[in-house]
Amino acid sequence: MTIIDAVTTTTAQLPNQSPAQSTYQTRVADYWNAEENPVNLELGRIDDLYHHHYGLGDADWSVLDDDSDPARRRDRITAELHRLEQAQAELLARHLGPLSPADRVFDAGCGRGGGSVVAHLRYGCQADGVTISAKQAEFAGEQARKRGIDDRVRYHHRNMLDTGLPSGQFAASWNNESTMYVELELLFAEHARLLRRGGRYVTITGCYNDTYGRASREVSLINAHYICDIHPRSEYFRAMARNRLVPTHVEDLTAAALPYWELRKQADHLVTGIEDTFITAYENGSFQYLLIVADRV
Ligand SMILES: C[S@@+](CC[C@H](N)C(=O)[O-])C[C@H]1O[C@@H](n2cnc3c(N)ncnc32)[C@H](O)[C@@H]1O
Repeated sequence: MTIIDAVTTTTAQLPNQSPAQSTYQTRVADYWNAEENPVNLELGRIDDLYHHHYGLGDADWSVLDDDSDPARRRDRITAELHRLEQAQAELLARHLGPLSPADRVFDAGCGRGGGSVVAHLRYGCQADGVTISAKQAEFAGEQARKRGIDDRVRYHHRNMLDTGLPSGQFAASWNNESTMYVELELLFAEHARLLRRGGRYVTITGCYNDTYGRASREVSLINAHYICDIHPRSEYFRAMARNRLVPTHVEDLTAAALPYWELRKQADHLVTGIEDTFITAYENGSFQYLLIVADRV
């Protein structure tokens, strides 16, 4: 009798249980549940595409010279940073394809959901986004409802290492700046399980440069700032090879990532204090921004 009661209680509590599997993952969830940085929210508000990654490409520096009106200058800087982060989401989405509306894609560590919307708008595909933050999953779901695409784009409060999503059903999957929160072996095993044979995996990520030696001071500061654990470049390829993911395209985006940081550093209304650390880490060669595209074989 006592045992049955205990089982019933456990089952009844399941829907509210956190998908975090360790104290570390609980701390990561706490971080993202509490996160309200203007650099994430104000940029997203422009067109309701909320990204929590950085940006790529040349910046329009003229936004800094606009001294007609301080509010207008601020808005132009915000819009320019959003354009750069959107360029990153588009670059990643381009590498997922070709895809059709019949296809299903998986967004691992989806944040407030912008990447899944970008993929859906581009290909008409169905998307499943997974985040360890209940608040983000709820926010992203509400955005999809407002757009009227919630039947095609769904967000789940789950662990990307153990999604519970069906095996072999996904034509493409990705991590946009979310690999540094998990063990790569476990992550790529889950992507390999979800992807159909011939499916496509894409990541854009910061990694530390093996040729530097070990993680630099700046890389350690970034880890402490975001409660993450940046992997060395080599570890990506080792873990992919062990999990049936064969790289087909690798691009060093480090130079393309710098203008975003140089501009953000001058955006007084958006800085978080980590800007100089990223710039130094990129410039001293200890940190790299990579795009890796792989086929699931
Ligand atoms: C820097 S944000 C990137 C968000 C999104 N990919 C984007 O580009 O906007 C990192 C994300 O990883 C998620 N995350 C970290 N660990 C996770 C885990 N074990 N399972 C699911 N999501 C996780 C966080 O909740 C957060 O949404």
